[in-house]
Amino acid sequence: MPLRIIRNDITKMKVDAIVNAAKSSLLGGGGVDGAIHEAAGPGLLEECKALGGCETGGAKITGAYSLPCKHVIHTVGPVYRDGKHGEPELLGSCYRESLRLAKEAGCESVAFPLISSGVYGYPKAEALRIAVDTIGEFLEDNDTTVYIVIFDRTAYRIGEKLYSDIEAYIDDKYVDEHSDGFAERHRRMLFARRDEIEEDSVCACMPMSAPKMAAPMSLEDAVGQIDESFSDMLLRKIDESGMTDAQVYKKANIDRKLFSKIRSAKNYKPSKPTALAFAIALELSLDETKDLLMKAGFALSHSSKSDIIIEYFISHGNYNIFEINEALFAFDQSLLGA
Ligand code: AR6
Repeated sequence: MPLRIIRNDITKMKVDAIVNAAKSSLLGGGGVDGAIHEAAGPGLLEECKALGGCETGGAKITGAYSLPCKHVIHTVGPVYRDGKHGEPELLGSCYRESLRLAKEAGCESVAFPLISSGVYGYPKAEALRIAVDTIGEFLEDNDTTVYIVIFDRTAYRIGEKLYSDIEAYIDDKYVDEHSDGFAERHRRMLFARRDEIEEDSVCACMPMSAPKMAAPMSLEDAVGQIDESFSDMLLRKIDESGMTDAQVYKKANIDRKLFSKIRSAKNYKPSKPTALAFAIALELSLDETKDLLMKAGFALSHSSKSDIIIEYFISHGNYNIFEINEALFAFDQSLLGA
């Protein structure tokens, strides 16, 4: 089931369990710990006192008292020194142990703050990477909805290098729909390489350009595919990929119910983020992605930052939907998948 990165105050999350970035005494503190204890009321501290603390990388579960969730899972992140003192393993363990307890308690939805990334000093981009990878592994075998709750967007960034690469890519490709076409082209003539200008103009003028066939096919197949609906094409691509349905919808960060709907309704028209999420899960090339989108009535456009970011990942052969979603989040765009 899906991983969602959202901006919120974790104490407001109406999920089965929220996770607290606690200290080893479990007796409250500042940051998210302080906010959770304050919103839960004194009963939470009373229950925590009986737990006898918790080791770094471990987790313990309590009730939620006045919070809108059902449980609080307290985990103790590592204090960051230089990343060479077992911090990544310990931080990964916080997510794994918390998810294990959530599963034991029958939780279907869990919300995490970015553990260790405040007082404990873990660099946010690295902390997020570990969170996303570890939660992603858990979701391969579990039907849980997991949220990473980012409190302060300005304090949050994907890796600097990835961020600036994507920024440069957007700058190269972005065609502002409202800009003066001639002035824009002139500026690009001055600053861009010739091949990029040609590519840009084609995409800007003809976002619905005819699909290119990825591989030669028989006339019979080609005729058959003209009438293919989005759902037909998706199911065919899943068969061709050798993956199971479940592998694909999980990789697409799409929930099972939505996938069943698409599977059973031949003419189902998905939203663009859903169609794109499937293209990513199936690791389609850019042309194949455009074909699949077209079946749902959409196109990739260089007037859309979010499309350019997705194009960046496809053209770099990076099909990790969680990483793509991190980047979309960092650029303030809506996320792919459910
Ligand atoms: N909702 C979501 N995230 C939040 C909230 C909130 N209400 N408040 C802060 N954050 P920190 P740590 C984010 O310092 O680094 C405590 O004193 C915050 O922006 O709370 O694991 C404990 O008692 C940051 O990104 O936890 C420990 O002694 C993230 O939550 C120590 O701090 C974690 O920041 C634990 O340090």
